[in-house]
Amino acid sequence: MKRLLLEFFAMALMLLPLEARKTQKFTHQTIAIPRVQKQVLSIETAHTSLVILVHENGTLQTVHYGAKLAHPEEYLALNASSEDYNGDRGATYPATGGRYIGEPALHVKYADGTHNTELYYTGHENSEKDGVQTTTIRLRDYVTGLRVRLIYEAYGQQDVIAAHAEILNPSKQPVQLIQAASSALYIDADEYLLTHLHGSWAAEMQLDHELLGHDVKLIESRRGVQATQGNNPSFMLSLNTREFSETSGEVIAGSLAWSGNYRLSFEKDDAHRLNVVAGISPHASAYPLGPEEVFVTPDMLWTWSNAGAGGASRNLHRWARKYGVYGGGTVNPTLLNSWEGAYFTFTTETLLRMMDDAAGMGLEMFVLDDGWFGNEYPRNNDDAGLGDWEVNVKKLPEGIDYLAQYAHEKGLKFGIWIEPEMVNPQSNLAHAHPEWVIQSPGREIYQGRNQWILDLSNPAVQDFVFGIFDRTMSLAPNIDYIKWDCNRVVQSFGSPYLGEAQDKFYVDYCQGLYKVMRRIREKYPKVMIQCCSSGGGRIDYGSLPYCNEVWTSDNTDALARAYIQYSMSLFYPACVMASHVSAVPNHQTGNVTPLKFRFDMACAGRLGMELQPRNLSAEEKALAHRCITSYKQYRDLVFTGDLYRLASPYDGSYFGLMYVSEDQSRAVVYTWCTHFEPRTVGGKAFRLQGLDPARQYKVVEQNVDQSCWWGNGLSFSGDFLMAGGFNPILPRLYSSAIFVLEAQ
Ligand code: GLA
Repeated sequence: MKRLLLEFFAMALMLLPLEARKTQKFTHQTIAIPRVQKQVLSIETAHTSLVILVHENGTLQTVHYGAKLAHPEEYLALNASSEDYNGDRGATYPATGGRYIGEPALHVKYADGTHNTELYYTGHENSEKDGVQTTTIRLRDYVTGLRVRLIYEAYGQQDVIAAHAEILNPSKQPVQLIQAASSALYIDADEYLLTHLHGSWAAEMQLDHELLGHDVKLIESRRGVQATQGNNPSFMLSLNTREFSETSGEVIAGSLAWSGNYRLSFEKDDAHRLNVVAGISPHASAYPLGPEEVFVTPDMLWTWSNAGAGGASRNLHRWARKYGVYGGGTVNPTLLNSWEGAYFTFTTETLLRMMDDAAGMGLEMFVLDDGWFGNEYPRNNDDAGLGDWEVNVKKLPEGIDYLAQYAHEKGLKFGIWIEPEMVNPQSNLAHAHPEWVIQSPGREIYQGRNQWILDLSNPAVQDFVFGIFDRTMSLAPNIDYIKWDCNRVVQSFGSPYLGEAQDKFYVDYCQGLYKVMRRIREKYPKVMIQCCSSGGGRIDYGSLPYCNEVWTSDNTDALARAYIQYSMSLFYPACVMASHVSAVPNHQTGNVTPLKFRFDMACAGRLGMELQPRNLSAEEKALAHRCITSYKQYRDLVFTGDLYRLASPYDGSYFGLMYVSEDQSRAVVYTWCTHFEPRTVGGKAFRLQGLDPARQYKVVEQNVDQSCWWGNGLSFSGDFLMAGGFNPILPRLYSSAIFVLEAQ
């Protein structure tokens, strides 16, 4: 009987289709999720609260980010929504799996091929260090054991919250992180006006405003390096409005601190709410995470202001000056850079005479740009030499030491250019280490600007790149400044070092870069570093903790710079914005602008010059000297003051901005005409901001004998100046004026 029964079951099993047979081993056993105490976690700064509700079922819901709440615990009355067919709305760190069907912050593929992750609260900790409050929330997936920590650092005074995630794989099997974003934010407003930047070489940081509709908007970089030459990983969301305002309304701004591929997604759901997810791009990066390994995401910076875009910018700038920029809050020297004045063609003599002129005009540093290296493959144009970082003895037989010493004797600091991540096929390095070049087996290694990229995911290459910096520093005893360039994007990617783990490439490259930078900063804490990438290709809060400033754009045309500098100021402080006076016709645009206009634009950032001074007339040199001298009097405001944008070149015919000292006792105001207005009667009224209405300010125009404002030299109340009484006459395209205000 028993045998018959067995035979019967065996027959029945045979008759089942193959698929059904395979599933026989599945038993439906649900793992119970422990209940937790319902609680409110409020992450607070001086004026903001980010409120996360921990439900009894262990899920996390972001319920508020905005004005500071006196009683965030009032959210305790809110219950978790049940039976929501559209997924966990407001999940603080939404993961692919469970009920969630929107854009995920986390998407994990496990060793058994499954894709589901459901994160539940297991605990949290608060700590405080130097005024920064850190909240760490621990989460767990009870089926796979995956652990996640969400870390929020609240910078109280600056109203900035830096958020990142750490993902730990405690299993014995590797998992793949298909996506591991830094942070997500769920926002509830009637309208979302997205402000972000797009661009290209010589036209970085062009402004876009767009009212978000439903579905998903992505801002992404897949360039590998030079990640910000197109879009920038920064944005603003003006809430409940269709208008962008400098001075009023709720604005949430965000910026991802990462110099590699990134993705910002904005998904407006069927409830008209917006889920923002920000992090490393998942593009070709299903990151393998081995047993017991932890993946740490970069920081996502958030700020909120009720004072429009201006308020949000000032929060980010204050934070950046104190925490986000290497050497932030200090003044960087004015300089003459050799690039547009000499390009690749110079001798020692050429450079010495440039230094004489730089010192004569009152500049404080000389920077020797590209072209100083390579012997067998001399760097006489961009065809050859990258990788061979020895001094070209034909051009500079006396060496770099001689130049640096000459500069120092003239009272100038000395800086030099390198591009250590790159190699020309025509170089000794390319011949010696073909395995260090980014390449995909059997495929052409594409060139950009005649160069290849070194594989910074390889520790041996990291050592080599560090060594380039180290050796360059030893070319002279006192090198004060290094310009670090990076002139192409990654194409046809592939790392000979990573073998089959190519998914690691984009992330490991960027982390390799940061490892090198950290090593450099340990050994060279004092040297100033400019971060350049064909101009503004690497302007982000991932690289700024190692760099004192950025080369904003290769476009040095002052009119083009109005647009670039305006947009840059939305997210990045003026202290990092290098801006140079160059020759006319401008080498990029062919435009001819007056020297005064060029100075007035460059003086809004870190002032420099980039031309052959020999070609300036005595009169022009005198004007240069005058502008540089006056800049030195007020530049502390550029480096440490609060920015107020007064007029946008994108909106009309004028650009205006001002920097105000923290104590409101001094300010510098810049005004430029960027488009001819035929019928301007009585000047253009700029409503100044940020002054003390009750104080009297003496207003003095800089660098002119005859002022364009009737009130020049007189004192006015802050109230009067902010109400629109300040109206310089800027009658023509390229009219411009700088005014210094001192409280009496
Ligand atoms: C890039 C930089 C320039 C200059 C050149 C030198 O284009 O952006 O400023 O340094 O490289 O080759």
